[in-house]
This record gives sequence, structure tokens and C-alpha cells, in this order.
Amino acid sequence: MFAVEMKGITKAFGENIKANDSVDLSVRKGEIHAVVGENGAGKSTLMKILYGMYRPDKGKIFIGGSEKSIDSPSTAIKTGIGMVHQHFMLAGTLTVLENIILGDETTTVLGLIDKSSCRKRIKDIAEKFGINIDLDAKVENLSVGTQQKIEIIKILYRSAEILILDEPTAVLTPQESQELFFTLKELKSGGRTIILISHKLSEVLSVSDNITVLRHGKVAGTVESSTTNSGRLAEMIIGSRVEAFSEKSKPLPGEVILSVRELVVMNDKRSIAVNHLSFEIKTGEILGIAGVEGNGQKELIETISGMRKAVEGKVIVNGKPLNNKISIAHIPQDRQKYGMVSDYTIAENVMLGRQREEKFSTVFAIKNKNVFSYTDDLIERYDIRPADVEVVMGSLSGGNQQKVVVSRELTKDTELIIASHPTRGLDIKAAGFVQRSLLDQRENGKGVLLVSSDLQELLLLSDRIAVIYNGKFSAILDPSLTNEVEIGKYMTGTQYNEQ
Ligand SMILES: Nc1ncnc2c1ncn2[C@@H]1O[C@H](COP(=O)(O)OP(=O)(O)OP(=O)(O)O)[C@@H](O)[C@H]1O
Ligand SMILES: [Mg+2]
Repeated sequence: MFAVEMKGITKAFGENIKANDSVDLSVRKGEIHAVVGENGAGKSTLMKILYGMYRPDKGKIFIGGSEKSIDSPSTAIKTGIGMVHQHFMLAGTLTVLENIILGDETTTVLGLIDKSSCRKRIKDIAEKFGINIDLDAKVENLSVGTQQKIEIIKILYRSAEILILDEPTAVLTPQESQELFFTLKELKSGGRTIILISHKLSEVLSVSDNITVLRHGKVAGTVESSTTNSGRLAEMIIGSRVEAFSEKSKPLPGEVILSVRELVVMNDKRSIAVNHLSFEIKTGEILGIAGVEGNGQKELIETISGMRKAVEGKVIVNGKPLNNKISIAHIPQDRQKYGMVSDYTIAENVMLGRQREEKFSTVFAIKNKNVFSYTDDLIERYDIRPADVEVVMGSLSGGNQQKVVVSRELTKDTELIIASHPTRGLDIKAAGFVQRSLLDQRENGKGVLLVSSDLQELLLLSDRIAVIYNGKFSAILDPSLTNEVEIGKYMTGTQYNEQ
């Protein structure tokens, strides 16, 4: 029995982009079905069609065997379909409880909200699926892992039988991902059907029953997860063999480019986030930072990139105290909030913060021709799709937005690069390309501070890995002499070396 059947789904945006091209997707009731594919392959579009956010140009949708016309998210919800989006949609200033019941029709029909019965129902749902959260906490103070859980409870609260999760683990730590998978398996054994989008192939292979691969808007195939492996899956996704990652060269550290001295920084709740931290990065070196989110890495990065003020200590870049004239390349953790302007075109986004560079402007005007040719070059090198400088950033797929931000920052003329989760949301090929670019920057004598929740990535790229715990480094490790398990122990504080 199929919970969902999408047949011949076609959806075009404008004349040139066919996001979905005669897509067939069949999802059995009670299975976890993964949808994978390159950035821009059409995954989110297909799911937005199922959730009633977009109308297909062609094609039919059957839910539980009968044809449905899903013309809006509220119809989708009534049909038993819920979706957790690639970019979260919670209201930060409201509490967990308020977010979950917000906009729920069963409560608004009554005209008044009976919070205590809502609270009880939410508690029951959370308990049943092993989710533990404080319903009265303000959402903006919660980790992304917890926000993710709230999104899931929110759709279960609306009695969803079919759950769509668009890249739910992109922003989660490995530990949080494990918790999420536990919840998904509980949901599955309770008879729920789950459609999961992810770029993390090992995850997809371990948690899903079947996998559908999209390539350029078409189905490249559906396979049973137990009969394939990550190499074969990668090949299906990109349509050719995946190149092995070339070894990084011997480190050639030069001058100190970043020096952090006894730094103390507060978080938004005014407690100490970074606690008397000192370290240095030299040119030609990548310092990786590992840590469970909430241990000060975010505040550290924000301070070095000039977005947050330190209460004590110093940040010295290239021998000078940090000031707003020093240009630093920064790939921010939250691309949509700090890395881009949705309503601007790709070219305008490439210019953000760089409009004063000589090659792009005179005192009087922007040199449009240069801007366009420069952007064209980035589009080609970073394989940004669609390849059109005048397309609006907000219409790009998540991974392609990330490519624009990364390409802009990595081509700035700076000696220091701060990269916060640079490959988040990128497909395997694009992620490999960005990792290679970071190594190239290191070989070109730049200093790189890399924060990543992907420990494989830290091990692959870093010359040293500093583990941050409670605002201090609990260890500085040599990647060639350590592994994920050891890093994990320092991350959770079960092992600690005062630095
Ligand atoms: N609202 C829109 N307007 C115009 N083009 C769009 C819109 N939404 C998506 N597209 C285009 O449709 C194509 C598919 O995008 P989609 O977001 O479905 O990709 P995806 O597979 O989810 O990629 P990613 O892994 O990067 O999230 C892309 O070329 C994208 O630019
Ligand atoms: Mg997407």
C-alpha cells in the first residue's frame, strides 16, 4: 500500500528552469523514504508540491490510493501531510507551546485557546516519541536541534500521518542527528510515513528503507537502501564516478595572522560564552574547531568577524587590533540571516561588502561590466545554478545560495578566512569542491579558522583541531593522531586537558 504516489509531476519556473520533469515518486505506508540529489536537482520543489505550496504544471498526486488536489498547505495538513522546511520557520520571540499551537485551526475555530489541554496533548506526543523539551522556553534561546524537534512536534500536533523533512540534519550535531533518527524510527514503528531529504549519504543509507535519486529534475532511479552503498549512490546522484579527494600538502605555516589573547565574550543571555581563550593561527594553516553547539564557538566567531564585542581580551589580525577597516572573509553559520539578501540578484550578492573594491567601482559608479563578468566566472567555477547573474538569490536552491556566499568570501583579497560550516547543505560534489578550495587557500598562504559540526571534514582539512567546551579549549589535537571518538570525548567534557 502506498501512502504517497506522485505521478508525472512537472514544474517549470519561467522558460528556462524545469525544476521537476515527469517525476514519479512512490512511498510505501510506514517507510522512511529518502530523496537525494545534487543541489538544484528539484527535491525541495517536489516536496513543496506535495505540501501544496506550489501547484504542478502537470501530474497527479494520490494519497492512500485516492487522487487529491493539494492546493495549499492547509489542504495538505487536512490530508494528513506535514512538512519541516529546509529553513526553519518558527517565531523566535514566542514560547515553544505558542509556536506549536500557532495557526492551528482546531484551536482558532473555538475562538479561544485552551492552553492547558493543548499543553497536555503536546506533552503526550513528545513523551510518546521520546522528545524532551521545555514548553515554556522562548524559541530564540534554544539550540537548532531543539528547534527541529519543535517543528516535528508541531506537525504531529496537527495529526500528520505523512511527514516531510527537508534536510533536517544539515544543521544538527552528530549527537542531535542520532536523537532525530531515534524519533523517526519511533514514528515509523507507529505507522507514520516519512520522506527525508539529506545530502549525508551514510545517514540516508542507515535510516531509510528506500531511496529515490533526482538528477536535473528527473528521477535517476529508486533503490532499496540495503542493496546499495555510498559509492554507488554518489554515482547515481552526480551521474559519473566521484573523484577521490587528493591528499593535502605538508603544512608550511608562516607568520601569525590571527592572535586571540585572553578573550572573554558574553552570549545573548549575558553569561560567559568565551572564557579567557587564547590561540594563534598562522598563514598557511587551518585551525579546526570542534564542539557541541552552545559551547562558545558561535560567539567566538562573531567576535573575530566584528559582529560582537568582547568584554575582555584582544583580537589581533595581522599585527593590528581588530577594527572595521580590516577585511576578513567570513562564511557565516546562517547564510540567510548574515550571508545574503534574498531580494537581490546573484551579482548583487557577490558584491555585498565588496562594492568598494577598485575592480568593481569608481567613486561615482559601479562597473557593471566587471561585476557581471566576475560573477559569471564564479558561477562557472562554483557550478552555481541557474547560471544567470540576474536571477534573484531567494529563488535559488539552498545549496546554490550557499555556493554564492562561499564563492564571494573565498575570492576576497584577505589573509584570514573564517569559515563556519562552509559545506552545510552542499551536495557531495560541491562539498568536495569547497573543501578543496579551502585547502588551496591554505596553500596560497591564507590562515583559516574552520568551525564545523562534521568531524570528518575537520579531520580532513585541519592542521590542528581545537575542541571547545564551556568556552575554553578542552584539547588541541593533531588530526593525524586522533579520531572522531576521541574528539567526541573532549566535546562532551568526559576528557579534558586545560590548554
Ligand atoms: N520560487 C522559485 N522561483 C524560481 N526558481 C526556483 C524557485 N524555487 C526553485 N527554483 C529553481 O528550481 C530548481 C530546483 O530547486 P530546488 O530548491 O527544488 O532544489 P533542491 O534539490 O532542493 O536543491 P538543494 O539541495 O540545494 O536544496 C533550481 O534551479 C532553483 O533555482
Ligand atoms: Mg532543497
